[in-house]
Amino acid sequence: MAPIDTTTRRGDREPSDSVAGSVSVVPKPAAEPLGSRARREPLVRAQNVHRILGAGEMATHILKGVSLSIEAREYVSIVGASGSGKSTLLYLLGGLDRPTHQDEEGTRFDPASRVFIDGEDTTGLSDGQLAYLRNEKVGFVFQFHYLLKEFTAQENVALPMLKLGKIGHDEAMDRAAELLKSLGLGDKIRRRANRLSGGEQQRVAVARALANKPAVLLADEPTGNLDKRNAEVVAEIFNNLASQGQALVMVTHDQALAARARRIIQMEDGNIVSDTTQA
Ligand SMILES: Nc1ncnc2c1ncn2[C@@H]1O[C@H](COP(=O)(O)OP(=O)(O)OP(=O)(O)O)[C@@H](O)[C@H]1O
Ligand SMILES: [Mg+2]
Repeated sequence: MAPIDTTTRRGDREPSDSVAGSVSVVPKPAAEPLGSRARREPLVRAQNVHRILGAGEMATHILKGVSLSIEAREYVSIVGASGSGKSTLLYLLGGLDRPTHQDEEGTRFDPASRVFIDGEDTTGLSDGQLAYLRNEKVGFVFQFHYLLKEFTAQENVALPMLKLGKIGHDEAMDRAAELLKSLGLGDKIRRRANRLSGGEQQRVAVARALANKPAVLLADEPTGNLDKRNAEVVAEIFNNLASQGQALVMVTHDQALAARARRIIQMEDGNIVSDTTQA
């Protein structure tokens, strides 16, 4: 988990620059080899996922056997009443949490309660392996940005790349600057995170989530802590990313924002009760 910085500043300043949506920050999907008939695995797949928290009398069955697949280029929103299990599901899809494998009586779920990330079964991975897979394949945006406040915007965005270790420091800093520019923060690259407005901080968090070109971007109420104008800026960024082919799953209470996604999943009491894709 990212270090927690609970300092949040609501969007108390107007965004000072517009968002350039034209810069591509999403890698082009690799072309399938000609003649290849191999079906690509979904980017994320939940198979009969259960989550029980607490034990004995206190056990709460939070997710009750959720199955779904997220395919390349999909833009999905997850809606549902508070407490229906949206965040729990999102964290499981992104490997921030692990499914529960057996019921309160000790009987294993059948089929097995599992999450696959980019085709890889996460069940047998160690915590370190799961953290690596997550950093490589999944980008997270939370309601609260969790930036490192003493670090610059650029350093915050470069950190996941340095942690992954596939590129060196200079390249990571250059890519961080490019990402920030593409999200309209070209003039704030070297600004310390705690000296940015709430809306700017959330855009830095989006840039950080994109740092390692994630297979899928997961967002939990990404506009929930923003004023209307900043929420619109972030919503527009998500739209641009989706139109560039970035797979995106977003939990939101905002009906208008949810409706921008082509596919809308509705949760109720730990189950998916509807899953519709608009034409
Ligand atoms: N540590 C825990 N122990 C027991 N129950 C928990 C725990 N964490 C969450 N829950 C319960 O799990 C259920 C689902 O929580 P979750 O956070 O996934 O809901 P949500 O749909 O994201 O709600 P919201 O819209 O309010 O964010 C809730 O009823 C919550 O009270
Ligand atoms: Mg939630």
